[in-house]
Amino acid sequence: MRLVLLGAPGSGKGTQADKLSELLNIPTISTGAIIRAAVKDGTEMGLKAEGYLAEGALVPDDVVIGIMKERLFEDDCKEGYILDGFPRTIPQAEAAEKLGIEIEKVLDLVVPDEKIVARLSGRRECKVCRTPYHVDFNPPKEEGVCDKCGGELICRADDEPETVQKRLTVYHKQTEPLVNFYEERGLLVRAYGCEEIADTSRAVREALGLE
Ligand code: AP5
Repeated sequence: MRLVLLGAPGSGKGTQADKLSELLNIPTISTGAIIRAAVKDGTEMGLKAEGYLAEGALVPDDVVIGIMKERLFEDDCKEGYILDGFPRTIPQAEAAEKLGIEIEKVLDLVVPDEKIVARLSGRRECKVCRTPYHVDFNPPKEEGVCDKCGGELICRADDEPETVQKRLTVYHKQTEPLVNFYEERGLLVRAYGCEEIADTSRAVREALGLE
């Protein structure tokens, strides 16, 4: 399965990607996680991307396409992958087609904007393995500690309410047009992500024909 997860910031793409990755035994490739790691490590790409991330803007297309051009042709992607956060603009989607990246399905995770700010203000993320948690909706067994790897749970810098509003505006303007782009190609399916995480996971599996 070569799957794209579309959806607003905080719609639950990372949460559902983790579950699908386990179910299908294929990796999740998250451009957001790759970019945040590069910022943390202070690489050349990270230094270029840092300002965009902090402002809630998208990193330039050529930077992201450059990352994916290499990442998606690595060995662990041979049996498929889940793309969380790529493509995010029409030029990225067109570049992916030109590179021969054949997408089989695109899942649009639909959540209204008013739910997003509350979700992101309560999000915590593992500093080590990046697993997402929520203080109310998906708490770890021990406060502040990742269930999976024992890493420290932290808040993401771009989850400040003001930055979240900017990310939502960017999403509607630059990413939402991809819904039509993939609908026209007959690849789009939808799932509603407003219910509890387990119900959303069921809706996702149903939309993908996995149940
Ligand atoms: P990225 O890391 O991709 O962030 P995003 O798309 O904004 O999405 P999030 O990670 O914030 O949310 P999510 O949908 O994964 O939700 P989650 O599962 O964590 O990108 C960050 C930045 O990197 C961008 O702003 C941009 O600058 C740059 N970037 C990345 N890709 C790029 C690209 N292709 N081009 C250019 N720039 C790029 O869930 C959120 C919270 O809600 C969690 O706490 C979770 O526990 C909780 N939750 C999840 N589901 C539910 C539910 N059903 N009910 C209740 N709570 C839930």
